[in-house]
Amino acid sequence: MKTKTIKDLKFETLLPKELIKKRVNEIALQLDALHIGSEPPLMICVMNGAFIFTADLVRAMQVKVLLGFIRASSYRGTTSSGNLELSGIEKLNIEGKNIVIVEDIIDTGATLEAIIEQLQKRNPLQLHIVSLLQKPHAPKFENTIVGFEIDDRFVVGYGLDYDGLGRDIDEIMVMK
Ligand code: IMP
Ligand code: MG
Repeated sequence: MKTKTIKDLKFETLLPKELIKKRVNEIALQLDALHIGSEPPLMICVMNGAFIFTADLVRAMQVKVLLGFIRASSYRGTTSSGNLELSGIEKLNIEGKNIVIVEDIIDTGATLEAIIEQLQKRNPLQLHIVSLLQKPHAPKFENTIVGFEIDDRFVVGYGLDYDGLGRDIDEIMVMK
């Protein structure tokens, strides 16, 4: 078990990289099965947090994929500011396409709800959601694959940050 200090907070290993890798491979198989024989899905990476998960996931998948990137931000420090900013959706070609939203974590679900609402308006053929992590209070979304259900504690690593730091850590660490 690793420990790390980022600014004023201490973190310890929650999900080691081998476990994440195994789960990412399982999710890739599920997504392959959902899209085999159909048009390549547009995998929409929700930046910044999902950049590593997306990179690993698309490389573990066997079907051809298209990639799109949107940006969502609401967190300041370890709490959500509730001030959601979304950008980049307008540039994507959604109508009639198979869409997969790739998120790092579903906490309150507000970010995902806003993204889904904007995408649905543009008539995708299919809409799936994949999130590496999900916290306990998150509402249930349809057609959603979750990597790991975790406790309501602040995590960093594998793309997730604490005030901009820790995204490069190769595992998921939890605040002590
Ligand atoms: P939601 O809108 O409350 O579901 O929050 C989703 C976004 O908040 C995620 O995409 C993350 O970027 C961020 N977030 C939620 N929980 C954590 C955490 O424990 N660590 C780092 N970022 C988090
Ligand atoms: Mg995020």
